[in-house]
Amino acid sequence: MVAWSDAERSAITGVWGKLSVDEIGPQALARVLIVYPWTQRYFSKFGDLSSVAAISGNPKVAAHGKVVLNAMDKAVKNLDKIKATYSSLSQLHCEKLNVDPDNFRLLGDCLTIVIAAKLGAAFTPEVQAAWHKFLAVVVAALSSRYF
Ligand code: HEM
Repeated sequence: MVAWSDAERSAITGVWGKLSVDEIGPQALARVLIVYPWTQRYFSKFGDLSSVAAISGNPKVAAHGKVVLNAMDKAVKNLDKIKATYSSLSQLHCEKLNVDPDNFRLLGDCLTIVIAAKLGAAFTPEVQAAWHKFLAVVVAALSSRYF
C-alpha cells in the first residue's frame, strides 16, 4: 500500500478542492489530443478532431474530459485504495478499449500543466511533488490489470 504523509494528503486534496472538474477535464483531454495527436485514434467516434479549434470545441471531448476527471475524483477520495478503486477501469481500458497504458502518463502530464496554469504560484514545488506522486499511483493503478 502507498504511504501518504499528512502534508501529501492535504496538498492533494487542497489542489483538488481548488479545481472544477467541468473546467479542467475538457481542457486536459483536449490538450492530450492536440499535443499527442496519435491518441486521437481511440476517439474516432467523437467526430471532428481535425484541428485545435475542432478539438477544443468538440462537445464529446468536453463531456469525456469530465468523465475522466470524475473518475479521478474517486482516487482523491480513496487515497488508501486507489488500486482497488481502479481495478475494473484498468481492465476496461486494457481488454475492451485496448488503450496503450503509456497514454495514462501523457494524460497525467497534460493535467498537471492545466492545473499549474490554473493555480499559478499556489502550485508550489512541494504541492507539485505530492501531486506527481498521486498521479504516479493513479497511472500504476490504471495499468495494474495489463499484466
Ligand atoms: C487518468 C487517466 C484516465 C481515467 C481516470 C479514465 C477514465 C475513464 C472512464 C471513467 C471511462 C468511462 C468508462 C465506462 O464507460 O464505463 C473511460 C472511457 C474511455 N477511456 Fe479512459 N481514462 C483515463 C485515460 C485514458 C486515456 C489516456 C485514453 C486514451 C488515450 C483513454 C481512452 C478511453 C476511451 C477510448 C474510452 C471510451 C470512450 C467512449 O467510448 O465513450 N482513457 N475512461
